[in-house]
Amino acid sequence: PARRTFLKSVGGLSTVALLPAPLLLGGCQPGGAATHAETSGLEQGPFDVELTLFARPDVAPILPGAASEVWRYTASLLKGPDDTLTRLGDGYLGPLIRLRRGQRVRIHIDNQLPEATTVHWHGLHVPPDVDGQPRFPIQSGAQKTVSFVVDDRAGLYWYHPHPHGKDGGRVGFQSYAGLAGPLVIEDDNERGLDLPQGDQERILVLQDRSFAGDNELTYLSGGMGSMMTRMHGFRGEHLLVNGKPATMQEVSAAAHRLRIMNGSNARIYKLAWSDGRPVTVIGTDGGLLEAPEDFPYITLAPAQRVDIWISFEKAAQGTRIQLLNRPHDAGGMMGGGMMMGGMMGGSDTASDQATPLLTLEVNGRGEDGVSTRPERLSNELADLPRPDKTTAPRLFRLGMKMMQGFTINGRQFEGATVADGEAVSLGESEVWEFFNDTMMPHPMHVHGLQFRVLSRHYADARSAGQLAAGIVDSGLHDTVLVLPGERVRIALTFTDFPGLYPYHCHNMEHEDNGMMRYYEVRKV
Ligand code: C2O
Ligand code: CU
Ligand code: CU
Repeated sequence: PARRTFLKSVGGLSTVALLPAPLLLGGCQPGGAATHAETSGLEQGPFDVELTLFARPDVAPILPGAASEVWRYTASLLKGPDDTLTRLGDGYLGPLIRLRRGQRVRIHIDNQLPEATTVHWHGLHVPPDVDGQPRFPIQSGAQKTVSFVVDDRAGLYWYHPHPHGKDGGRVGFQSYAGLAGPLVIEDDNERGLDLPQGDQERILVLQDRSFAGDNELTYLSGGMGSMMTRMHGFRGEHLLVNGKPATMQEVSAAAHRLRIMNGSNARIYKLAWSDGRPVTVIGTDGGLLEAPEDFPYITLAPAQRVDIWISFEKAAQGTRIQLLNRPHDAGGMMGGGMMMGGMMGGSDTASDQATPLLTLEVNGRGEDGVSTRPERLSNELADLPRPDKTTAPRLFRLGMKMMQGFTINGRQFEGATVADGEAVSLGESEVWEFFNDTMMPHPMHVHGLQFRVLSRHYADARSAGQLAAGIVDSGLHDTVLVLPGERVRIALTFTDFPGLYPYHCHNMEHEDNGMMRYYEVRKV
């Protein structure tokens, strides 16, 4: 009976685990012309990297005991450096894809799921038809090839599904089922810095999941609980790092670089060190900062990434330090507070206890030369276009429709329909203002580019104490957390690619239930 909870929301499909084994070695199977979409992106090769990415049902060990049914990405490398694809642990996460700036990349996507999907390259500056946005679904059993030039700064990006059908989005469900993977871009600028690497560099993907008996994943289950979940977004009972519950990793008595990504559907983390030391941030969504910055804790909203530097140089062998998720009232009045706590049942672990995500135990000496805290990081940010202070911002009011979810300027998702305030000009820089006129936080994401955060204004002091001190606004971002009552201004420049791109709340349940729109970059 427990098995049904997860599978029910796939629409009665109960044979997930019984589908034929995937083609892991065969590379791209061009199949019939009818199912293989034309290559979009670069007109022709040669390509530096070529790989096939499969999306398919599988089973993976998550909790101790029985393996769980999941949907996941697997990949095979057809061409390119050996370290292009690596696995992050033995969980359900998609492979870590490692690319270098300037590479010409071609990816064959093979949809072996029982429903349509897309693969979105979150944070990458690619043309609309490569972006994996909802307008270009890949049907069940079909393949599609995309190609692009890697044109982003070194950083941690990621990939995940982005389908949206007539009945709403499937991003929340498909990502929750396991479809997500990290993507690292490297460049010369970063390589020129003496940052920890090899075993002293770790990638940590944070997610949360709930399970029924037999370790079966549970998602929205219908009824009142489900309605509240759609409202707040789904938060699971178990916090997972790289697809596993809190684990221990050994570190050496040297500096380390922890690259953390929030791959959760809706959970906002408040990350702190157990020994009370400040969290030293060296990078964000779009790459390295100009210089390290210290925070008491880090507020990490869904889809955001943070690059952290920490040294264990002075720590005695055997010392343990934990990365904690500190409790917080995630949504002002309505987010997990006393009033709603009961109605949300066990769907939120946020209590007054800090939850350990990871225990690091110091063991061994590490390599020389990378223990000193870097003083300067990237000098690329200084050259970015500065917005003209006199330009009036383009306003996006985040609102709410009673019982129908959330809106942007009063409207919900309407496919490719672009409203008056949603057309911008190719080559221009603009200031956008997100005004959160609701009682819940919204991590707002814009496709196709990285932006800068210019300012925040709180209309509501309630928000400020909860998460604000941990928000990292320096550097480049593709997702910005807008707290209840807040006005956040960002600076964007629309270069290279005309066409339609989505912008949306990255609380996946909000996104799936209408809090997404398209903007259009028009040639002038
Ligand atoms: Cu991470 Cu529109 O997506
Ligand atoms: Cu995106
Ligand atoms: Cu939202």
